[in-house]
Order: sequence, then C-alpha cells, then structure tokens
Amino acid sequence: MTMLPREEAARAILARNDRGGYTVPTDRLYPFQWNWDSAFVAIGFSLFDVDRAYRELERLTEGQWDDGMIPHIVFHAPSDTYFPGPDVWGTRHRVPTSGITQPAVFGMALRHVHEAALATGTAGATERTKALFKAALRSHRWWLNARDPEGLGLVSILHPWESGSDNSPAWDEALARVPTTTTTTIRRKDTGHVDASMRPRDEDYQRFIHLVDTYRDCGWNPERQWAAAPFKVADVQMTAILARSTADLMHLAETLGTDEEKAELSRMHDRLRAGLARRWRPDLSRFVNLDLISGRDIETPTQAGFIPLVALALDDGQRTAIVAEIERWLAGMFAGVPSTPSFSPAFEPKRYWRGPVWAVINWLICDGLRLNGSEDLARRIEQTIVQAIESAGFCEYFDPTTGEGLGGDTFSWTAAAYMVLGRRT
Ligand code: GLC
Repeated sequence: MTMLPREEAARAILARNDRGGYTVPTDRLYPFQWNWDSAFVAIGFSLFDVDRAYRELERLTEGQWDDGMIPHIVFHAPSDTYFPGPDVWGTRHRVPTSGITQPAVFGMALRHVHEAALATGTAGATERTKALFKAALRSHRWWLNARDPEGLGLVSILHPWESGSDNSPAWDEALARVPTTTTTTIRRKDTGHVDASMRPRDEDYQRFIHLVDTYRDCGWNPERQWAAAPFKVADVQMTAILARSTADLMHLAETLGTDEEKAELSRMHDRLRAGLARRWRPDLSRFVNLDLISGRDIETPTQAGFIPLVALALDDGQRTAIVAEIERWLAGMFAGVPSTPSFSPAFEPKRYWRGPVWAVINWLICDGLRLNGSEDLARRIEQTIVQAIESAGFCEYFDPTTGEGLGGDTFSWTAAAYMVLGRRT
C-alpha cells in the first residue's frame, strides 16, 4: 500500500490518542470519545486496520441512547481537563454521555469500513456491519422523529455544538436570543490548553451552557426540548450529512437489510433530499439554513452552504454557480475552503469556526465536488490541505491565509484526513 511522507506520524497520532478501542480527538483538550471525530477516524483506520476501524464505531454505539440518539460525547473514563463533564449534562444512560448529538457521519463511515473489510477479506465483517447498521438506522429514525417533527425534510440543531461548528457566525443572531444566565457554574478548561484568542468568547460559552441547563431541565426528553428550545436551526450541513449517510446505509441494505429497511431508508432519503433542495438560494449560489424561531433564512456565508454537494446531484446551472462561489472563497487563500470567507465581516482567520480551515470539512466538500463532476477542483483543494498538514503538522485547524497550524495539535481527525486525502492527490 502507498505510504505518504507523513503516514507514520499520522498513524502514531491515532495510536497515541487510542484509549482502548476508541480515539480521543486530542489529549487533554478533548479527553473523551467525540461522535463525528470517531466516524472520520474510523475511515482513517479502515485504510490499514479494519478491525480497529470497527472497534471505533462499536465503542461509539456503547453510548447510544434507548431512543436511538448517538450522543456527541461518550465519557468512557473520567478526566478533569474538560468542561462541561458528565455532572453538568446529568444524563441517565448506562455509560455517561452528553445530552446532544453531532453530524451523522457514522453511516458514511460504516460503508467505508464495510467495503474495506470486504476488500481485505476480514473475518466476521458481515455480522459486525449488520449490528452497526441497525444502530445507525435507529439513530436516523431518532433524527427524523426528534429533529424534524414538523416534516420539513430538514433536521434541526438545538445547540450550536451539535453542528460541529461550535461558534460559527451562522449562529450569531440565533444565539444572541439565548440568555447568558446559567444555573451551572462555568469552569472553562479549554482556554487553559489553547490561546483564548482562538477559542469561542466567554459570552458564547454562557449561552452554550444556558442551553445545556434548559435541556437538562427537560429531562432530555426530545418533545419537551423541541417545545422549550430557544435555539432551533434547520441546518443544511447536518441534513446533507444525514442524507448522504442514509444513501450509504441504502447501499449496505442492498446486501444486509430487509425489504422493510430498504423501503424505510429510501423514504428517509427522498424526504431529506427534497428538504435540502428547497434550501438552495440562486442569488447566493449556495444553500442556507433556516432559523425556526425567527422563520428567516440565515444568509451568513459559512462552509455549511457547500456541504449539500455530498447528498445532491445538482443541475448544470447550480453546479456552475456553486463552483464559481467556491473559487471566490479560495481566492487569495493559502489552503482550503475557509469556514467563513475572507470577504465576510465575520471573518477571523484564527478563531475556531469563524475563518479557519478544517481538514474534515474540506474532505466533505471535495467528496461532494467529485460527486458533482468537479474532479479537478476537488484535487486542487485536497492538495492544499495535504500541504498545510505536511508543513504545519496535524493541527486542529489552519489559518487559511497562511497555512499556519492552530488550536490543539496531534489531532486524530486531521491525521485521518491526511491519510485519506493524501492518497487522492
Ligand atoms: C470542537 C469542534 C467539534 C469537534 C470537537 C472535538 O468542539 O467544534 O466539531 O467534534 O471539537 O474535536
């Protein structure tokens, strides 16, 4: 198999962040198992250790709730380097977990792992895939029932952390309505590990915790949370990832599923793709979120507007427009599609989701570009990401204007992205 220049270093990071069948995003800053990080990491593992790739997903499902939700954090073992810990969430699952979720990359990862298992003749693969397929299907049912109760064909987030893009400017207006009062005492740990200028602001944090307090007071019951939520955004990034995962589960169902499961997945897929297609804004050349509290479109430009490429086959006009828009965001940048474009007043090239480049986001965008026939652009973007990682290291994210590595270092999903994207360039 091809070995990339930093392949050994990438594998060493995954080994170093292994805590016994699951991988922490990075030591200290994120000392537990995170949902979508693990899904991307499983794809990375599937390139050289299929058994370990399965383990990553299996350990994540240990945290799955009875109602089907796969939480955003599974607290397998205690650590005092992260806030908010299990005591703040106050959930009642057999393994301590957070009470919110994260993008459903799980189904996409499962298909990758299964195909890698078939290619390598891994023993026991079908049974392992089947069990994980059932878990994924239960989580997709949860998504549609709990997060699209009104049948919009779009799933909503009730907390910015669910989006995976914690302090994106897309949330500014909606979050400003959330009070800063908390019943929980805030003890931030992140700013002890990473420079505060690269992290969300204190005021954002108060609102993040206000939301946690609110949902904990609802006993983590989905209907009560939906009714009480002061923050409710139908998110195109989330919906697109769920739709794409649904397509990947449909593919697996061809050989592993029942007729009912196939039909159910196909209905989910139609519903999500129809909802997503309605979010296209021709005047902006991208897809936009819908704020369900104000009833208004969120026009703030962020990377989320391009993620529907992974789930939809665009028509020629849309394709030309979105490619031109991506090119506009790339102009003058050193690496990748930024999380916020430099022409936006919200652009801060070093602050978390307000400008920096994230390798896994570019991975998704490039998958979507390829699906929509833009192979050359995908490859060009991937090359800049691989180059940034090779020169700056496996950082959490990068300054798009310089390629400087930022946030935490020795990041698991950046290592996984390197192995996957590096093989394509
Ligand atoms: C931050 C990111 C989120 C990620 C987590 C662990 O919260 O915003 O997307 O899953 O860190 O890496």
